[in-house]
Amino acid sequence: MDAQSLLLLVLTFFSLLFSAKPFVPSNYFLLNCGSNANASLYNRVFVADSVKPSSVSLSAERSVSLTDKNPSPSSPILYRTARVFTAVSSYEFYIKRNGTGTHLVRLHFSPFKAQDFNLASARFDVLANGFLLLRGFSAYNLVLKEFLLRIDGEVLEIMFSPLGNSGFAFVSAIEVFSAPKDFIIDDGARLINGNGIESYKNLTSQVLETVHRVNVGGLKLTPFNDSLWRTWIPDDGFLVFESAAKRAATTHVPNYQNGGATREIGPDNVYMTAQEMNRDNSTLNGIFNITWDFRVGSLGVPHLVRLHFCDIVSPALNQLYFNVYINDFSAYKDLDLSMLTFHVLSSPVYLDFVVDSDDSGVIRVSVGPSDLSTPSRINAILNGAEIMRLVNPIGLHAKSEKKSIWILVGFIVGGFLICCLAAAAVLLMFKCKKKKPKPPRRVESAGWTQLRVYGGSSYSRMSEGTGTTSPGPNGSLKIPFVDIQAATNNFDKSLIIGMGGFGTVYKGVLKDNTKVAVKRVGNDTGL
Ligand SMILES: *[C@@H]1O[C@H](CO)[C@@H](O)[C@H](O)[C@H]1NC(C)=O
Ligand SMILES: *[C@@H]1O[C@H](CO)[C@@H](O)[C@H](O)[C@H]1NC(C)=O
Ligand SMILES: *[C@@H]1O[C@H](CO)[C@@H](O)[C@H](O)[C@H]1NC(C)=O
Ligand SMILES: *[C@@H]1O[C@H](CO)[C@@H](O)[C@H](O)[C@H]1NC(C)=O
Ligand SMILES: *[C@@H]1O[C@H](CO)[C@@H](O)[C@H](O)[C@H]1NC(C)=O
Ligand SMILES: *[C@@H]1O[C@H](CO)[C@@H](O)[C@H](O)[C@H]1NC(C)=O
Repeated sequence: MDAQSLLLLVLTFFSLLFSAKPFVPSNYFLLNCGSNANASLYNRVFVADSVKPSSVSLSAERSVSLTDKNPSPSSPILYRTARVFTAVSSYEFYIKRNGTGTHLVRLHFSPFKAQDFNLASARFDVLANGFLLLRGFSAYNLVLKEFLLRIDGEVLEIMFSPLGNSGFAFVSAIEVFSAPKDFIIDDGARLINGNGIESYKNLTSQVLETVHRVNVGGLKLTPFNDSLWRTWIPDDGFLVFESAAKRAATTHVPNYQNGGATREIGPDNVYMTAQEMNRDNSTLNGIFNITWDFRVGSLGVPHLVRLHFCDIVSPALNQLYFNVYINDFSAYKDLDLSMLTFHVLSSPVYLDFVVDSDDSGVIRVSVGPSDLSTPSRINAILNGAEIMRLVNPIGLHAKSEKKSIWILVGFIVGGFLICCLAAAAVLLMFKCKKKKPKPPRRVESAGWTQLRVYGGSSYSRMSEGTGTTSPGPNGSLKIPFVDIQAATNNFDKSLIIGMGGFGTVYKGVLKDNTKVAVKRVGNDTGL
C-alpha cells in the first residue's frame, strides 16, 4: 500500500446483500396460562399450559386455573384465563443446547375477578433464573412486561412468589423466545455520565426491562408490524416543545445493509418516519434542539438508551451533521449518518448508550445541529428510541481501565497520522530531489490503520466527523470483507486491542502486510 492511498484511506467495502429471510427464533414458547385450550393473539398461538407442552414444566404445589366468567366482549380469549399461585411456584422452559444467548421474556397480566380471587389485589415477586424481575408487583389493569435476559444454561426458570399472609400471584400469558444474534452486544454501548467517552462493559450479562419503545415521528406499530412482535408508540407525548419538531416520512423501504440495523433491530416503519427540526417556524431561532423527556419509574438506576436513525431528510449524502445529547451530556458529537452507513442514504443504524440516570426520574434525549452543518443544511433527526432499565446493574464504575483504552486508541490514531505525514514527506522528497519514478512500495510499520467494520462493510475512521475528507469513488479503496476476516483471524478474541464506543477494536494484518486496527461495529447477522 503506498502513501497516497494511505492518505486517502477511505474504505467502502462491498457489503454482503441484506438477506430478507424472516427471523426464526431457535427457542419459541407461548403459553396461555390457566387454560386447557390454545388461544391466539396477533395471529400467534399461545399453547394451553394445562396440557403441559413437553418443553415446559410447571412446578406448583398449589395453583388454580381461573376463568373469567364475565369477560368484556373486547377482551381477547388469551386474557380470559389466568393461573393463580398461592405458594411459590415456577415454570421451567427447556432451552435448546445450541440456542443459548439473549432471550425476550414477556409476561402478560390481565386481572379479573373470579371465584375467591380478585386478581388486581395480588402482590408478588417474579424471578427469572434468580434475577428479580418484578418486586412487590400488582396489576390493576392489563400490563405487559418485557425483559431481555441471557440464558447460558438449558433451563429458564420463571418463579412467582406471593407476598403477604393470604397472598397469591397470577399470570395470564408468557412469551419466551430467542433474540436475534448480537441483538445486544457486550461493548457496543457508550457510557454517558459526563466523564468523557467510555464503553459500557458486559451489557449482555445485564437483565434489561423495556420501559419505552417509541416510533419517533410515526404511528403506533403493533406486533403485526414487527418481526419480534413488539409494540412501538408515537412520540407525541414525549416531545418537550412540539413546535421544535416536524414529522418527516418516506415511502421508500430503508436500505438495510449487512452490519447496520436489521429489520429485527427496528422494523421498516420505524426507519421510514422521523422528527426533524421545524425550521419553517420563523419564531424559533435557526439553531435549537429537539428534546424528548422519557419518564422512567426508577431513580438513580442506569438505563440503556437505543436510538434509531435513518437519513430520510437529506437529498444527498454528507449534508446532515448533528449532535446527540442525553441528560444534557454530549452523547455523540457531529454525528454523520453518511459515514456510519458507508455512504448509503436512507440506511438504518442504531446507537446504544448507557445512562447513569439522575434523581429527576426522566431521561432527556436531545438532537441539535452540529457546527459542521452548512447554514442552508441545518437539521437534526431521530427515527426511534428505546429505553430499557438495567435490572441488576453490575460493574458500572470500572472507569480507569476504559479510559486507558481510549488513550490507546488516541495513540493509534495519532501514530497513524504521524506516520502518514512522514510518509508524505518522504514521498515529496523523492519526487522533488531524485525524481525517481516510483516511491517505495511499502510503508512498513505504518502503525495501525483505523478501519471501521460494520459487519460486511467498513470505512476509515480517519474521516469521521471532520467533514473534510469527502470520500469519493477515486479515493476509495475496496477491501473484500473476507480479507478483513482473514486479517483478524475471523475476529479472533485474542486480537482485541480495545473496546470502542460502538464496537470492538481488533488488530489485523492485511495480505500486503499492512497492519490495521479494525473496529467492528454494532450487530451483524452475516458471521
Ligand atoms: C395447541 O397448539 C399446539 C402447538 O401449535 C398444538 O400442538 C396442539 O395440538 C394445539 N392444541 C389444541 C387443543 O388445539
Ligand atoms: C440447533 O439444533 C437443531 C437440531 O438439534 C437444529 O435443527 C437447529 O438448526 C440448530 N440451531 C442453530 C441455531 O444452530
Ligand atoms: C401494521 O399491520 C397491520 C396488519 O397487517 C396493517 O393493517 C397496518 O397498516 C400496519 N401498520 C403500518 C404502519 O404499516
Ligand atoms: C412556532 O414556535 C412558537 C414558539 O415555540 C410556538 O408558540 C408556535 O405555535 C409555533 N408555530 C408553529 C406554526 O409551529
Ligand atoms: C442542546 O442541548 C444541549 C444539552 O442540553 C445544550 O448543551 C446545547 O446548548 C443545546 N443546543 C442548542 C442549540 O440549544
Ligand atoms: C464481565 O463478564 C465476565 C464473564 O462473564 C467477567 O469475568 C468479568 O469480570 C465481567 N466484567 C465486569 C467489568 O463486570
